[in-house]
Amino acid sequence: MFSKNFLWGAATAANQIEGAYLEGGKGLSTADYLPGKERIKYLFDPEQMIHTSFSFYPSHKAIDFYHHYKEDIRLLGQLGLKCYRMSIAWTRIFPTGEEELPNEEGLKFYDNVFDELIKYGIEPVVTLSHFEMPMYLVQKYNGWIDKRVIQLFEKYCRVVFNRYKDKVKYWLTFNEVNSVTKLPYHSGGTIITEKEKFDEVGYQILHNQAVASSLAVKACHEIIPDAQIGCMMQYSPIYPYSCHPEDVLSSLHLERDRETFSMELFVRGEYPYYTKRLFKELNVNLQVTQEELNLLKTYTVDFISISYYMSLAWARTDFVAETTDGNQMSGLKNPYLESSQWGWQIDPIGLRIALNKLYDTYRVPIFIVENGIGVKEKLENNTVIDDYRIKYLRAHIEQISEAINDGVEVMGYCMWGPIDLISNSTGEMSKRYGFVYVDVDDKGQGSFKRYKKKSFDWYRKVIKTNGEDLG
Ligand code: BG6
Repeated sequence: MFSKNFLWGAATAANQIEGAYLEGGKGLSTADYLPGKERIKYLFDPEQMIHTSFSFYPSHKAIDFYHHYKEDIRLLGQLGLKCYRMSIAWTRIFPTGEEELPNEEGLKFYDNVFDELIKYGIEPVVTLSHFEMPMYLVQKYNGWIDKRVIQLFEKYCRVVFNRYKDKVKYWLTFNEVNSVTKLPYHSGGTIITEKEKFDEVGYQILHNQAVASSLAVKACHEIIPDAQIGCMMQYSPIYPYSCHPEDVLSSLHLERDRETFSMELFVRGEYPYYTKRLFKELNVNLQVTQEELNLLKTYTVDFISISYYMSLAWARTDFVAETTDGNQMSGLKNPYLESSQWGWQIDPIGLRIALNKLYDTYRVPIFIVENGIGVKEKLENNTVIDDYRIKYLRAHIEQISEAINDGVEVMGYCMWGPIDLISNSTGEMSKRYGFVYVDVDDKGQGSFKRYKKKSFDWYRKVIKTNGEDLG
């Protein structure tokens, strides 16, 4: 049973929808340097990428939400969304990150977006940093590895909290913050040249972002006392491939290192008990002050938010089995699950498991802020009959309902990508997630017209009946 105030929603990110990458005084961001499909090659090692000139950059136009926001929010209004998760591009507010004063045109743009959402009764849920930061800070400081970026981020947070305090009551700090130890450029604007320092740099960035998150929590509560602010983690439960104890142990370790380690910092406000051993094994030595540790402990988040797309299987090191791709990590193929066209394993029960595990450990409310399926689709008769999407979303919503019946406090559910957008991992437009088809291809060509798919009316009905009618 979903509560009356359950937040039914949908989610996007600025660099995947807005376009207009140099309009309105916006500065260049890390995302503006990501090419199309070639980006996969560079995601884990971007050093060469930022010095290469590519023929096409998807974020520059994206789906041109910047010029279509009224039309797009009207569609979200028709869906009956209770909330809409979006992100603010830091570079629209502080183009280089270091200006004395914010860019009024950028602030005004988000004012317009929030006003439009509020007009349709949609609560904005805002991510402060979704895989982008000012490129200037990468060139000057090498991104989040430099602690001076913490203060610049705090300044940006205080500006947007003050400006939008009457309009936005739900905030998220860093999107999929746990990804930073593996994707330091993508999530932290840091280029690692000494490869042997990869782990050390990754965990230092995570620490710096945890401190920044504490400062954001502090500022948010001071400036908007009735707001709630959460952290955001990419969570794919890691299953042992077999009941061999070594498989169980290695999946436990993987889940901690890649995923829940970060939650200890943001939710409990302290380093987990296994840190000493982990850091010794990884040869990680961090620069940490007592003052920073006090901040972590004092200003923990109000809730956890997660993206959930899939689960993965894992086994002991010398075990050989078929592998599969996943959201920013790959693993072993689970013989009991089907996969999406991109190899992401479809596992609705995994979501119930994830919610129970997290609630069992942290006992704070959980907000699912991303879930969905990317599919190659063709527009026919001005629509797409996407029964597979309905099936995927229905199965996941059913499992959320089960988790709620288990006793887990779930705040809300945002499906990912209500209007087709560019893919984060592949830069493709053809990895479509939406209830609304956008006529743009992988090279940014098309009319940019929007068309409702079959799933549009289905989700409208789900929201209208508060999850009673999933048929
Ligand atoms: C999450 C990100 O990892 O998954 C989103 O927060 C992303 O930005 C989403 O778009 C789906 O991944 P992809 O790679 O299919 O776009």
